[in-house]
Amino acid sequence: MTARLDGTVALVTGASSGIGAATARALAAEGAAVALVARRKDRLDDLAAGIGAAGGRALVLETDVTDQQQAIDAVDRTVAELGRLDTVVNNAGVMLLGPIVDAPVEEWDRMVALNVQGLLYVAHAAVSHLLAAAEDGPRRVSDLVNISSVAGRVARLGSGVYNLTKHGVGAFSESLRQEVTGRHVRVSLVEPGAVSTELASHVRPEVWAQAAKRFADIERLEADDIADAVTYIVTRPRHVAINELLIRPTEQEG
Ligand SMILES: NC(=O)c1ccc[n+]([C@@H]2O[C@H](COP(=O)([O-])OP(=O)(O)OC[C@H]3O[C@@H](n4cnc5c(N)ncnc54)[C@H](OP(=O)(O)O)[C@@H]3O)[C@@H](O)[C@H]2O)c1
Repeated sequence: MTARLDGTVALVTGASSGIGAATARALAAEGAAVALVARRKDRLDDLAAGIGAAGGRALVLETDVTDQQQAIDAVDRTVAELGRLDTVVNNAGVMLLGPIVDAPVEEWDRMVALNVQGLLYVAHAAVSHLLAAAEDGPRRVSDLVNISSVAGRVARLGSGVYNLTKHGVGAFSESLRQEVTGRHVRVSLVEPGAVSTELASHVRPEVWAQAAKRFADIERLEADDIADAVTYIVTRPRHVAINELLIRPTEQEG
């Protein structure tokens, strides 16, 4: 039986852990060749080995997407070595929670550099290839999936700059969607609630001690739940665009 993404190529940023790793595995299982983008090469090598062992194809691209040239190089190498680019999952992100008053501004810089600028660099480098894929690719449609968050819909005390970055991702995605959807490049926004990944491990411990209370008693989503949603988005028929998906754990209220 032919898999639904056979003959296509996907690039996933932040593929070394969490949602990105699960998404790369899921897209490879559907038959896509997958370019794995992140900084931790050892993690990417392990993931590529697993994808290969399962019969898939993966390309490891050790990349810091906050460096525009590295983002361009990752996209160019994907096209040069895997032959084309049909699907981009702009997933790399960092969440550094905490009050705005007296915040370490270095944390704000890191969030803006990755969640906003890194995402923009990858989108900018990839969009011409996505337009080409939509014109002559096997499916005659292509996908840019941007991973935002519930934090991109609802601002909360203690996550102001994370909220800013993810609201920005939503605004950018909708504007780009309007620009390219007529040419069959689908731009989608995925907004997860709490997912069990490494994301919170970068939050200062004293901040996380407070923030974690919100989620103490709920069963979180798994990275595979979000990978499943991304797979659903990119395997729709050509005339169906899933513009936005908000996915919370059932027990998450806000
Ligand atoms: N977990 C949640 O509850 C949740 C909820 C809503 C939204 N999200 C969003 O989901 C996305 C993925 O997060 P996650 O939960 O899977 O967290 P994660 O396990 O911490 O994954 C983050 C990924 O981003 C990569 N990354 C960090 N800096 C990078 C850089 N400069 N260049 C390239 N890659 C970089 C990391 O790899 P390296 O360190 O190897 O570079 C890692 O693979 C993020 O955008 C996050 O905001 C997560």
